[in-house]
Amino acid sequence: MSEDRYLTFALGKGRLANKTIELFEKIGITCEGMKDKDSRRLIFTNEELKLRFFLAKGPDVPTYVEYGAADIGVVGKDTIMEENRRVYEVLDLGYGRCRMCVCGPRSSEDLLKHHEMIRVASKYPNIAKDYFYNKKHQTVDIIKLNGSVELGPIVKLADVIVDIVETGSTLKENGLEVLEEICPLSARMIVNQVSMQMEPVRIRKLIQEIRKNL
Ligand code: PRP
Repeated sequence: MSEDRYLTFALGKGRLANKTIELFEKIGITCEGMKDKDSRRLIFTNEELKLRFFLAKGPDVPTYVEYGAADIGVVGKDTIMEENRRVYEVLDLGYGRCRMCVCGPRSSEDLLKHHEMIRVASKYPNIAKDYFYNKKHQTVDIIKLNGSVELGPIVKLADVIVDIVETGSTLKENGLEVLEEICPLSARMIVNQVSMQMEPVRIRKLIQEIRKNL
């Protein structure tokens, strides 16, 4: 396909976006408007390189990529696992490193060992379900929350949570601990399956350049 077609990137808003913009700048891909924090603009274009970028909520990034509204996405492995979309995961970008864990008060540790019926609060119900049902073979009641998940055990909504742990300070400040580790996480690059076939040269070149700069 000709170089005239715009290659579109969906970037997860927030913590990862700045790192991604920095990484792209290192390989000569700039998009000035995107760094303006006061702007409400959602889509940015680099006319020279024929690239388009948009900032989306993290969980929506795999959706844009699966449907081909974006050719390429950058998002956390947690979101990729939770959304389970048909996309190619092509690169571990190495930043945004953290862990998906089962956390709670120390007193909940026994409930995990003895496979009791427990309540699990999480922003990631699919990851929690897969871990408890398929890996631990433990039947649990999963309660979906949208944030500040650490509140769950404190206010007795749940026995444990499944959540991201980065520095561990949120847990510590709320009297909770990591009880089990599910998997390591980091930012990943994902690609639409059709785009990969239509634009293999352009996309592979980009992946190679990024890999050299990690
Ligand atoms: C994430 C996560 C934990 C916290 C972990 O929350 O859900 O709460 O960061 O980081 P730490 O180990 O460095 O303390 P986020 O800040 O994204 O907000 P949320 O709780 O509203 O989801």
